[in-house]
Amino acid sequence: MALRTVLVFPDSRLRNIAKRISHFDDELSTLAADMAETMYAENGIGLAAIQINEQKRIITVDVSEDQSALMTFVNPEIINSSGKQICQEGCLSVPEIYAEVTRAEKITVEAQNIKGEKFTLEADDLLAVCIQHEIDHLDGKVFVDYLSPAKRQRIQKKMLKRKT
Ligand code: NI
Repeated sequence: MALRTVLVFPDSRLRNIAKRISHFDDELSTLAADMAETMYAENGIGLAAIQINEQKRIITVDVSEDQSALMTFVNPEIINSSGKQICQEGCLSVPEIYAEVTRAEKITVEAQNIKGEKFTLEADDLLAVCIQHEIDHLDGKVFVDYLSPAKRQRIQKKMLKRKT
């Protein structure tokens, strides 16, 4: 396993669209392990491969308080969603910024595990928010895209300052 570098907004590589995964091999297992290690090291509750510059449709999620509920979704797709919830979101690619985003309250996700086996999961509350947030990353979307242009500009300035 290895720690990977997380891209920081407004890095244009966060806008890449991840490709479907069709090989369920050792390389994929290593990627999933690296993602989990990186997510935990940064105290995140979710990570998408796009954030470590891998254009692959895989996300890791763990919304437990003690890093005990790791979930890995390969080729995740939301097949059903209902309700609305507003949650304060953050992102490892937008460090130290938190903002309210409206998401579906309940979702049904179809995905594969790292062996390629299909599964379906129903999620609500924080888990549902986290999965929606991470799937957005696979489509080149960052949570600040939901904010007003002025707010996004301010965050962008802050992030650029932070880098130098
Ligand atoms: Ni994020």
